[in-house]
Amino acid sequence: LTSPSTYKRASETAENILKDLPEQLRAPKVGIVCGSGLGGLAEAIEDEPKVEVPYKGIPNFPQSTVQGHAGKLVFGLIGPAKTPVVLLVGRAHFYEGHSMELVTFATRLCRMLGVEVMIVTNAAGGLNPEYNVGDIVCLNDHLYLAGMVGVNPLRGPNDESIGVRFPPLSDAYDLELRRRAHIAWRKLELDSSRGKLHEGVYAFASGPTYETRAECRMLRGFGADLVGMSTVPEIVVARHSGMRVLAFSLVTNRAVLEPGLRGDDPLVQGMSAGGLAEFLSKGKANHEEVLEEGRKAARDMQGLVKEIVGDLYAN
Ligand code: HPA
Repeated sequence: LTSPSTYKRASETAENILKDLPEQLRAPKVGIVCGSGLGGLAEAIEDEPKVEVPYKGIPNFPQSTVQGHAGKLVFGLIGPAKTPVVLLVGRAHFYEGHSMELVTFATRLCRMLGVEVMIVTNAAGGLNPEYNVGDIVCLNDHLYLAGMVGVNPLRGPNDESIGVRFPPLSDAYDLELRRRAHIAWRKLELDSSRGKLHEGVYAFASGPTYETRAECRMLRGFGADLVGMSTVPEIVVARHSGMRVLAFSLVTNRAVLEPGLRGDDPLVQGMSAGGLAEFLSKGKANHEEVLEEGRKAARDMQGLVKEIVGDLYAN
């Protein structure tokens, strides 16, 4: 439950961090969340000044427990306009056991640091059959099944000084920012190396289990193009507090939509135990595959985000 003291804590934490930052970094305009294996986005900040603040030691901050999610805030400047940004390298997930309040603490902190635009990235499973592993998708909507039935970070008393009780989400994924994403994509000539930038609908699943085949078919039937275990609670909190959002998924695996084989299938009946095991290992989602795809596509995602941010406050 979000309590009235949530923003008080975020605000105290923000003050605590800001007081130790050099002047130029003290008013970050853009917050960038780096998803699984996408921590390389921190390299988008090349020059000094650059200040890293490990999550460990930040008061009230949830500590990440997943491998490949080393946690730190990185403050720096991006692009010719020297836009001040804060990167969140590593995030708290609901499946780690954190409350939705804690999962979204970093987003609330961004708001308190003065961030206006959140760029959120993640690794996701592709449900849309047109997506390939390694593709990048710009999100244009989401399905938040858990949020619709009660696991919503805004549940609890509302702080009217932050946002309204019933925030609309029909325009959650900022059209003007998505337009910029497509322009940046073409400018970087990613359309020739990678094809077009997809747009799609992301479905939140709490995890940590990956989806069953039937669950994948259900989500696809509901209109989802991607499924993942993050991002949506952050988007909800960001929109509630008036920040604009842009989100990208990296497709790290293809969710399996076909029904599994039946035990009485003649093919299965005729297979040796070893042959069956080999057959079954194909198409199963696993964390190593997710991290590896992240490393490969991180450079493109990094270039894209850098290009968008570089242009955002230039005149
Ligand atoms: N399902 C849920 N979350 C994910 C997946 C997936 O297939 N791939 C990466 N994150």
